[in-house]
Amino acid sequence: MLQSMLGALSADLAIDMGTSHTRIYVRGRGVVCCQASAVAIHEDGGGRRRVLCVGDAARDMLGRTPPDIRVVQPVRDGVIADFDVAEAMLRHLVLQVQGRRLWVGPRAAVCIPYGTPDMERRALRESAEASGAREVVLVEQPLACAVGAELPVEDARGHMVVDVGGGTTTVAVLSLGGVVHHHRIKLGGTHLDQAIAHYLREHHGLLVGPRTAEEVKLHLGGALPRVGGEALEVRGRAQDSGWPRATVIDGEQVFHAMAEPVRLIIDAVLSALEHTPPDLASDVAESGIVLTGGGAALRDLDRALGEATGLPVVVPDAPHCTAVVGAAALVDRPAPAPAVAV
Ligand SMILES: Nc1ncnc2c1ncn2[C@@H]1O[C@H](COP(=O)(O)OP(=O)(O)OP(=O)(O)O)[C@@H](O)[C@H]1O
Ligand SMILES: [Mg+2]
Repeated sequence: MLQSMLGALSADLAIDMGTSHTRIYVRGRGVVCCQASAVAIHEDGGGRRRVLCVGDAARDMLGRTPPDIRVVQPVRDGVIADFDVAEAMLRHLVLQVQGRRLWVGPRAAVCIPYGTPDMERRALRESAEASGAREVVLVEQPLACAVGAELPVEDARGHMVVDVGGGTTTVAVLSLGGVVHHHRIKLGGTHLDQAIAHYLREHHGLLVGPRTAEEVKLHLGGALPRVGGEALEVRGRAQDSGWPRATVIDGEQVFHAMAEPVRLIIDAVLSALEHTPPDLASDVAESGIVLTGGGAALRDLDRALGEATGLPVVVPDAPHCTAVVGAAALVDRPAPAPAVAV
């Protein structure tokens, strides 16, 4: 009764704090925030720290700041590396989506990587509470992705979800509402950007920042070779002279630049399939693979994964929001009936 009264006075939220982006879902409004996971901090001579801005505005300052301003990306490889900054970021973003302080803090579902140790769970819960949440429910990310993709996870059948995020790729097999097999590698979209920056340096003698490399990926990136097609003028700094310079790169070159990390993502899925118990593997062979996360939007990644595994691959609508939407849905579910002792 009290809970439902409090629920009526507050807006319930789901939060997915990822390596690249933080997303917030508000019940009744949908995904209302998708901002870069970044905070710009001003440090004065006395060691006092003040948050200047958060999200995309902070990320846009990366590589452009004077010595007294630092841009911190509090999530590294899918895991919170700086809890103080993560908490400050969350507080700002939650306040932004609510527009004002509510009488009662929201109930918040927070996505966490599968297998997060107890100490980190506790720290994350405390951070979310300090950001104003009245009640915090931690939701494991593979389950959130599966529910967000509308898979019937409660069935006694295996389902495979592959989430390609900014810093990590998670492969999970789920059955009966739980994770049966899990494999996570510290490789995601950011590493594809780094591979492109590396290629431009080695083959064009051009130094570019992470934003430029990501732009190249978004325009020309693909997981399968493409003959001909578009080309892009890329601006950066010449490695030899240090002067501003431009070069032209095409889709085929970008494919070669990214080939190795793309292969590692596909290998992670093949390895997970090899280690899946036989009955569940045969379920997955029938139902196929669901590909989520921002990286799922990489051109032809679904086709490349389908060709490598021989399985159907489905990408849900808005794959980057699948986890946060699933986390919100999970919190609404009635708790399972208690088990009867036998
Ligand atoms: N159309 C696209 N093509 C290729 N990559 C894309 C596309 N759209 C987004 N991405 C990439 O997706 C990545 C971000 O994905 P997402 O937002 O799911 O990551 P995250 O949840 O913040 O990270 P993680 O789950 O690893 O902690 C970025 O590297 C971004 O460049
Ligand atoms: Mg993610």
